[in-house]
Amino acid sequence: MKQLTVKTKSTSYDVHIGEGVYDLFATQYEELLNNADKVGVFADATAASYHLEKLEQALKAANIPFVLHILPAGEESKTPIGFMNCHSFLLQHHFTRQSVLIAFGGGACGDLTGFVAATFMRGIPFLQCPTTILAHDSAVGGKTAINMPEGKNMVGSFHQPAGVLFQPELFTTLPKREVRSGMAELVKHALISDADWTRSLLLNSNFPHFSAELLSTELLKGIQVKADIVAQDEFEQDLRKFLNFGHTLGHAVEAYFGFGKVSHGECVMIGMTYSLLLSETYGNISSEFTKSFIRFAEHAGYPIQAIQDVEFNSLLKFMKMDKKVSSGELVFVLLHSLGHPFTQKVSERQCEQAYLELNSRIKEEVFDDSKRSKGSNNRK
Ligand SMILES: NC(=O)c1ccc[n+]([C@@H]2O[C@H](COP(=O)([O-])OP(=O)(O)OC[C@H]3O[C@@H](n4cnc5c(N)ncnc54)[C@H](O)[C@@H]3O)[C@@H](O)[C@H]2O)c1
Ligand SMILES: [Zn+2]
Repeated sequence: MKQLTVKTKSTSYDVHIGEGVYDLFATQYEELLNNADKVGVFADATAASYHLEKLEQALKAANIPFVLHILPAGEESKTPIGFMNCHSFLLQHHFTRQSVLIAFGGGACGDLTGFVAATFMRGIPFLQCPTTILAHDSAVGGKTAINMPEGKNMVGSFHQPAGVLFQPELFTTLPKREVRSGMAELVKHALISDADWTRSLLLNSNFPHFSAELLSTELLKGIQVKADIVAQDEFEQDLRKFLNFGHTLGHAVEAYFGFGKVSHGECVMIGMTYSLLLSETYGNISSEFTKSFIRFAEHAGYPIQAIQDVEFNSLLKFMKMDKKVSSGELVFVLLHSLGHPFTQKVSERQCEQAYLELNSRIKEEVFDDSKRSKGSNNRK
C-alpha cells in the first residue's frame, strides 16, 4: 500500500492506494468512524453492483454499522433532486452533525457525496472510496458540486475529505472508455509537471491499459501533482487553474456532443492537443511534439477525429460559458515547455485559427497515417 498526505491551510489528510486499503477502517479511520453516531455509505449503483461487498466486509470486520444509500449510476446522480434525496435520506435516518459519510463510486458520486457532506448540518466529515481511475483527480482536492440544468458543476463548495482510499482492483471492471477517460487526466498531470514523465507515458505502448502495479504507481504520481498544487492554492485563486489544462476546449466539446456521449477525459484529450498547438505560438512547444501527441492519442483509442466536422463557432459558444472566461476573453492554460504551465489570454480570432490548424493536423496525422498503415496501429 502506498500513501501521501495532502496538506492545505485548513486541514491535512491521507490518500492511500493499494490492495487492502479498506483494512484502514479498522485502524487509521477507526476513531473517526466509531466516534460517529451514524455512518452513511453513498454508493454508485454500478460500482456497488460489482464491488460493494468489499467495502461492506471491511466495515463489518471493523465493527462499524452503516446505512446504505444507492445512487443512480454516474452523472445522473449529480442533480439538484439527487442532492435533495440524499439530504432527506440522512434526515429520515436521523443523521446528525456527529455523523460521517463514505462515497463509494466515481467522480460523480464523490462530488455529490462531498457536497452533501459539506452542507448537511453545515458540514460533516466524509471519506472518499473512489472506484474509477478518473477519481484520482476528482477525489483529491476538496472540490464538490452538483450540476444545474444551466450547466455542469455550477453549485458546489470546497470541502476536503477526511481521507481517500483507492483500491485498484476495482478498476478492472471499468469499461475501456472510462479507462481512457481517467488516463487522460493522468497525462494532464504529467504534462503540467514533468517532461520525462510525460515522455515515458507517451512511449508506453500499453497506454492506457496498465497493470495494477504500474497503475498504482502512476496514479500516485498524478495525485502528488494535484496535492502539491492544492496545498499552495486550495481555492483556485492562482496555481490551481493549471489543473484545467485542456479543459476549456475539452468542456466545450463535451457540452457540444452532450454530456456522457463522449467521456470527459476523451474530450480533455482533444482539449490538450489544442492547448499544445496554442503553446507552439505562446510557448516553446514544437510542432513535432504536438504531432506526436496527436498520434499517441489516436493510437490509444481517443476519438480525436470527432471534431473534424464540428464548426468552431459551435464550440466557441460553449467556451464563452466556461468559468475560465474572464471579462470576455478566453483564458487558456498553456505550456512554456513540458512541465511548465502558464495562463494566457487568447483572442477569438487566434482561437479559430488554431482550431482550423488542429483539424488539418489531425487529418494529416490520423487519416493520412491510417491510409498509409491500413489500420496496423489499431490497439484500442
Ligand atoms: N471534484 C473535482 O475536482 C473533479 C475533477 C474532475 C472531475 N470531476 C467530476 O467527476 C465526474 C466524472 O468522474 P468519473 O469519470 O469517475 O465518472 P462517473 O462517476 O460518472 O463514473 C463513470 C461510469 O463508471 C461507472 N463506474 C464507476 N465505478 C465503476 C467500476 N469500478 N466498474 C465499472 N463501472 C464503474 C459509473 O456508474 C459511471 O457509469 C464528473 O462529474 C466531473 O465533473 C470532479
Ligand atoms: Zn477533468
